[in-house]
Amino acid sequence: MSADYPTMTTAEIRSAYLNFFKEKGCKLYPSSSLVPDDPSLLLANAGMNQFKEYYQGKKTMKEIGACSCQKCVRTNDIDIIGADGRHASFFEMLGNFAFGGVTKEQACAWAYELITEVFKLPKERLHFTVFTDDDETHDVWRDLGVAEDHITRLGEDDNFWAAGPTGPCGPCSEIYFDLGEEVGCGREGCAPGCDCDRFLEFWNLVFTQFDRQEDGSMPELPHRNLDTGMGLERMAAIMQHKSSFFDGDVMQSLIKLGEEISGATYVDDDYSGASRSLRIIADHARSVNFLISDGVLPGNEGRGYVLRRLLRRAVFHGRLLGIEDAFLGRFIDAVNDVMGEAYPNLIENAALVKGIVSAEEERFSNTLNNGRVYLDEQLAALAAGEQLPGKAAFMLHDTFGFPIDLTVEIAEGAGHAVDIEGFDAEMAEQKARARAAAKGDAWGSFNDVWTELSDELPATEFMGYDHESVEGARVLAIVVDGARVKTAEGGVDVQVVLDRTPFYAEMGGQKGDRGLIDSDSGQVLVRDTVSKGGLYVHEGTLSGTLSEGDTVFAGYDLERRALVRRNHTATHLLDAALKEVLGDHVNQAGSLVAHDYLRFDFTHFEALSSDQIKAVERLVNREILAAKPVVTRVMGIEEAKASGAVALFGEKYGDVVRVVSVGEEDRPFSRELCGGTHAANTAELGLFKIISESSTGSNIRRIEAATSAGAIEWLENRAALAEQAAGALKCRIDEVPARIASLQADVREVNQKLKAALTGASSDAISSAIEGALDADGYKLVLAQLSGLEGSELRNVWDTIRQKVSGPVACVVATVTEKGTPALLAAATDDAVSAGFKAGDVIKEISAHVGGRGGGKPTMAQAGGKDASGIPAALDAARALLGL
Ligand code: ALA
Repeated sequence: MSADYPTMTTAEIRSAYLNFFKEKGCKLYPSSSLVPDDPSLLLANAGMNQFKEYYQGKKTMKEIGACSCQKCVRTNDIDIIGADGRHASFFEMLGNFAFGGVTKEQACAWAYELITEVFKLPKERLHFTVFTDDDETHDVWRDLGVAEDHITRLGEDDNFWAAGPTGPCGPCSEIYFDLGEEVGCGREGCAPGCDCDRFLEFWNLVFTQFDRQEDGSMPELPHRNLDTGMGLERMAAIMQHKSSFFDGDVMQSLIKLGEEISGATYVDDDYSGASRSLRIIADHARSVNFLISDGVLPGNEGRGYVLRRLLRRAVFHGRLLGIEDAFLGRFIDAVNDVMGEAYPNLIENAALVKGIVSAEEERFSNTLNNGRVYLDEQLAALAAGEQLPGKAAFMLHDTFGFPIDLTVEIAEGAGHAVDIEGFDAEMAEQKARARAAAKGDAWGSFNDVWTELSDELPATEFMGYDHESVEGARVLAIVVDGARVKTAEGGVDVQVVLDRTPFYAEMGGQKGDRGLIDSDSGQVLVRDTVSKGGLYVHEGTLSGTLSEGDTVFAGYDLERRALVRRNHTATHLLDAALKEVLGDHVNQAGSLVAHDYLRFDFTHFEALSSDQIKAVERLVNREILAAKPVVTRVMGIEEAKASGAVALFGEKYGDVVRVVSVGEEDRPFSRELCGGTHAANTAELGLFKIISESSTGSNIRRIEAATSAGAIEWLENRAALAEQAAGALKCRIDEVPARIASLQADVREVNQKLKAALTGASSDAISSAIEGALDADGYKLVLAQLSGLEGSELRNVWDTIRQKVSGPVACVVATVTEKGTPALLAAATDDAVSAGFKAGDVIKEISAHVGGRGGGKPTMAQAGGKDASGIPAALDAARALLGL
């Protein structure tokens, strides 16, 4: 068909669509994160996800509706990706949404207007589908001017839509573009819904009216709603007069990069081989980039596994294309080039994404090599047509990190199917084992007394930011041995909930407080404070009596909290210093703030050099010596973000947050969202010292450090160790390095002398053995026992003997090596062999005496052994054997 409509770029389509709906009164929403707020959903898979509560009537919108361009990941069709022109794991969905305010007629009229008047698609190439018996929608399209033979009725598979097993759903109507007969299967009756590529579905209009429940029932939603989704890449293909998802401008720029790196050639209608691999890499690289920049890290479960699987498949297809070196980083840059403007968080997180991608890519390249060897061996052992056993597939998954579809792909390439049922059974077994192992914990945390108490009692009021103690707090609950009691008496372990408390409960890595709860009748020595469902639970030992309703004094251990506070502030300084020294990819991945030390885990891809560690320490100490104020302010989340406060990667925050800043208000050294307690001034930290730096797994480094008392104690211990070392070396501390160097030189010299002495001694021993050589029948036989030589050095001994003795000669020599093990050697000149000495036979016969086994040729044979004390017996045996 000819180019009978205009051409538009992806960016132009995106803005034309959104502008159209903004003009219709819909509010523009930014794409939500790929990590949904909704626990029933693994990853954002449709524009409607972020509006779920509007559909359910829990929230209302004052505008008539909404519109968005949503980033989506779908992995249910992962095997098909690249093998047709329609499927992908990542795509952008243009959508408009309404919650009761827009009729079906209106929704369809808008859609029709947009595609025929803005995109100017020819009406004769547009087709519409409706749910089997949805006459209403059929008539709406007809009344808009769509010809009867351009309206098809399809069943539930095509024309009923749901985001997941539960939640808002409803019948839908899809709009297709006819790419032309030449693209299709040519079968009679080919129409929308056919498997071939002729009719490309590009817009789905869902009339969301049900809310599917866990039990499968579908009560009506409060309104008749609208949820539409237009595939941006499909629309780009149409508007660029192409027929495939992969042939629009954005995807083509990525495919071109693949061609450039691999040297392969892309053929747009070839859905196998190199063209397929090029599509897969282009697609998966987008998913990988978007997932990581939304806070997903590679892992073995859930989202982390989806990411790892996509990343590994991309690397694998790179290998298929012959790319040997790491290449995914270049795709990340290329995706950022074409999509960074629409999604700025890609650019913000680029360094982090590339670091994670390259580390994961390198690791997988190694396992790919090893796993491939294993898989090839397994496949080679199969008979023609035999399945690869589930156990082998599981082994590849578990040990080598091969996603199952990768195993299937390679196995199929070699003509074998995989026993997926067997694989699933192995997986299920592993899960059951893991569950059994975790059971103890699971029972501890569910359905216990705390679930009830946190429902019944108000959340504890925390007074501890500015109070060291409170008078007149009330005991709301006491728990002993997991059960609530009205009164507890002497000597028992109790958990106590107060209406308000200055005690900090362990949170955000900061350890809970210790201290004292005191009433007229009893006292609790609090060992720890933890948080359970909004309640601060003081755990400790009771003396005297304590009852619900008692009025108490509560005060935490001031000295300990002061130490904890300093370490918490140090954690913030450390985070900022690491970012300054290593780069912006550094993100907190975990932390622990105790009174005696702090532990900080962060994203980085290699060990820190000692210079980097020193630079980080110096920066933190500079801030400490500058005695900067630490200021805490409470503000709205948006204001906090605008002020540059560091939020935890992937963490969700409420509307109001605490922001902790160190240093000048306009140019703080550190500014973080944080609910913990802090020093008032950095000077309180006194001193900061990094104690260790290590790795805790993929891309995560760990620093342990101390401040004030902890740092001083550490330095004291080091000094004591240095003194001990100096004492042992009988020198001053500053002389220790030179003293050790000179001792090492001494040791080297002594070793050399020893070696020379041993060799000298053995050459004496050899000389006297030669002098005492026995006269055998037709040759001379030298027998010698040596020590300090290695087995391999016995050959030199034989060389010496041969040089010194003229005429036919043979020897049997033994040594005790430095390790204390025996070694034997027998050797003979050719004429001694002719005279009857067979070195191999001799060694075979005598080596049992030293607990060894050996043999060799008639001219030369050797043996090792376990028992050096058997050497004299071995030599006697040789003599006896030769009749001497
Ligand atoms: N939510 C609908 C879909 O994803 C529009 O197809």
